[in-house]
Amino acid sequence: MLEALGLKEHIVAELAEARGRTLRLLEPLSDEQLVCQHSPLQSPLVWDLAHIGHFEELWLLRRLGGAEPIFPESDDVYDAFEHSREERPALELLDPATARAYLADVRERVVGALERTELDPDDRLLGDGFVFGLVVQHEQQHIETMLQTLQLSGLPHDAGGPSPVTPGEEVLVEAGTFTMGTDTGWAYDNERPEHDVEVPAFLIDSAPVTNTRYAEFIEAGGWSEPPFGWERDGDGWTCCRHGSTAPLAPDEPVQHVSWHEADAFALWAGKRLPSEAEWEKAASLGVLDGTGQVWEWTGSDFAGYPGFEPFPYREYSEVFFGSDYKVLRGGSWATHATVARTTFRNWDFPVRRQIFAGLRCARDA
Ligand SMILES: [Fe+2]
Repeated sequence: MLEALGLKEHIVAELAEARGRTLRLLEPLSDEQLVCQHSPLQSPLVWDLAHIGHFEELWLLRRLGGAEPIFPESDDVYDAFEHSREERPALELLDPATARAYLADVRERVVGALERTELDPDDRLLGDGFVFGLVVQHEQQHIETMLQTLQLSGLPHDAGGPSPVTPGEEVLVEAGTFTMGTDTGWAYDNERPEHDVEVPAFLIDSAPVTNTRYAEFIEAGGWSEPPFGWERDGDGWTCCRHGSTAPLAPDEPVQHVSWHEADAFALWAGKRLPSEAEWEKAASLGVLDGTGQVWEWTGSDFAGYPGFEPFPYREYSEVFFGSDYKVLRGGSWATHATVARTTFRNWDFPVRRQIFAGLRCARDA
C-alpha cells in the first residue's frame, strides 16, 4: 500500500487525470450537442457531465464531510436510479456552463477536504483512499459511456479506437484451482471477496475475434445483421467511427456486437464463449493477447461471489445480479487503466451493442 502522503498525491493525480479526460472529450462540442439526446439508450452528455460532479459531491463532500448540497433541488435529477436515460432530457438539467462551473467548484473543495482528511486504514471508506477511488473510477467509467454516446451519434472525437491484433492460436489452460477476484485497493464490491475456483481444463483463443473473421460469419449467413456501424460497400464493408466512414480495418477486433451475436459467432466457429472464471484464470496466467481493445462477452450471468457484501451502496452491483445481465471482461480502448484490471467486471443486457464489445472464443479441452 502507498504511504499516506504518497496516497494523497496519487489520488489528486488520478482525479486530475480523469477530469482532464472529461473536459477534453466534451470541449469540441457545442452546447446544443451537449444538451440534446442522441439516443434513447444514452443520457444527454450534459447530464453525464453534471452527474459526475454530483456523485463526487455526494460521496466526498456530503457523505464524508457532512456538507450541505450545492443544488438541493437537483438531487433527484442526477440520481441515476430516479430517472431512466430516456427520461433525462425532460428533466431540469444544469446548462453546460453551470455544469462545468459546478464540477470545478466541487473539485476545488474536494482537494481541500482531502488535505484535511486522515486516510484511516481501519475505515472502510477511507482505507487505501477507497471512496476517492470510487469517484475516480466513476468519472472514468462515465467517460467511456460518453464515448458510446459520441459513437452512436456519429459525432467526432479523437479518443482513438481498437488496435489491430494478431490472430492467434488456441492456448490450453490446464485444470486446476486459481484465485478469482481481489480484496485489495479500489476494487469494487463485485470483485470481492477473492476466492478459490476449480476450473476444468479448457482451450481459449489467444486473440479476440477480428473484423475479418466476423465478416466471414456474416457472409456465411451466421447472423442477418452486421455489427453496429458497419455498412455494405461493394463486396466489403465500411465502418463509421469518430464521425467518419472508413473501410473496415481487417485485423482490429470486432466491436459493437451484442451477447447474442457473440454467442452465435462462437457456436458457428465450433466453440463457445469463455466463462468469467475461465477468462480471469487465462488472463491471470498471461496467455491472453489483445486484452483492453474491446470488452469481451463471457457466457456468465452477473452474480455475487461467495461471501459477497454490498459496499458502499447496493445500487452499484447488487441490484443488477441475476440472469438479465451478462458479464464482460477485459476493458476496451475507451477504458482507462485505472479501471481495466484483470478482476474488473462489467455487465450489460445481452441485446446491447452500443458498448465497445467483441468476443474471444473458448472450448472444452
Ligand atoms: Fe454514474
